[in-house]
Amino acid sequence: MDLYTRSIEVVLANQTSHGAYLASPTFSTYRYSWFRDGSFTAYAMDLVGEHDSAERFHEWVAATVNAREETIRRAARAATAGDPLTPTDVLHTRYTVEGAAVVEDWPNFQLDGFGTWLWALAEHTVRSGRTQSEPVRTAAGLVAEYLTALWARPCYDCWEEFPDNVHPHTLAAIYGGLAAHQSTSDTDHHGTLHEITALIESEVGEDGHFVKFHGADTVDASLLGLAVPYRVVLPDHPTMVATVAKIEESLRSGGGVHRYCADTFYGGGEWVLLTCWLAWYYLERHEPDRARDLLSWVESQATHEGYLPEQVPVNLNDPSCYRPWRERWGDIASPLVWSHAMYLVCESSRRRTRDIVGT
Ligand code: BGC
Repeated sequence: MDLYTRSIEVVLANQTSHGAYLASPTFSTYRYSWFRDGSFTAYAMDLVGEHDSAERFHEWVAATVNAREETIRRAARAATAGDPLTPTDVLHTRYTVEGAAVVEDWPNFQLDGFGTWLWALAEHTVRSGRTQSEPVRTAAGLVAEYLTALWARPCYDCWEEFPDNVHPHTLAAIYGGLAAHQSTSDTDHHGTLHEITALIESEVGEDGHFVKFHGADTVDASLLGLAVPYRVVLPDHPTMVATVAKIEESLRSGGGVHRYCADTFYGGGEWVLLTCWLAWYYLERHEPDRARDLLSWVESQATHEGYLPEQVPVNLNDPSCYRPWRERWGDIASPLVWSHAMYLVCESSRRRTRDIVGT
């Protein structure tokens, strides 16, 4: 089976008539749309030429954000005044496909997805050559205002954990988003971008690699985002190279990549989207052989229907945690739309290179 074509089908099949992408259709807690997952998915759709799909997602985000203008303005005012934020003051990380808040309790205060959205939107604008609609421009301005006011606040990370910390990956996504917004609008974010860079560059551990969060001496695979795609540092920056070496050493015992050493979600297995992310990093560094090994592992994880799961329960960090999660939420999410999106990001890059080189 051609996993590239199948992945496009899976993504399109999981985009609703509203434009939202479901995180996973069969996993009940994931039958919503996340800004983070959706933005990477829209980016993948632009790469494979499905600009209409990406556009419909961006319009869905715009409607969802613009309906919350008052919340955004309130949050920005409170943050600027140094006041505490309550859960009702902030945007959520996921919404129903109709753009409504989900009633069930969730670690909702996460900032990275909004940065990722601004980044993916700018990519869409450039790659599709289309003009942003008025609602989309308004939403981008509101999100930029929100991030500018809130970026230094502790929030849940991209794995929806550790709410009391400020996470380099989250900062990087905000950086990438504001830099992208600056390049596609007439807004100047230089001051904030400079402050974020300085903070990220200070989060270096004893071995010279970036750390999961301030005070930690371990890595998290999401640190890959600092270089690819958010470009706070270049992929060959020495601290980034040391970070990737540490990720290889401590988070890759088998073919795939773990999130972080102490991860116990479903026992803490190997994540498909992170394995693609590491391959993406190597592709950007022109190391196709390393990327090929990682992507071969990913391809071998596809089910007979051509579905890629969220994670694979092998080389578990803590096997005793696998069963309790299965009993609580059922089988590991599959297909996970974000996994397919990350595969498409890598595979479209490999295909482009093959076309250029002519092999
Ligand atoms: C992951 C998030 C993701 C969400 C939906 C969570 O388990 O930690 O990163 O956005 O699932 O896919």
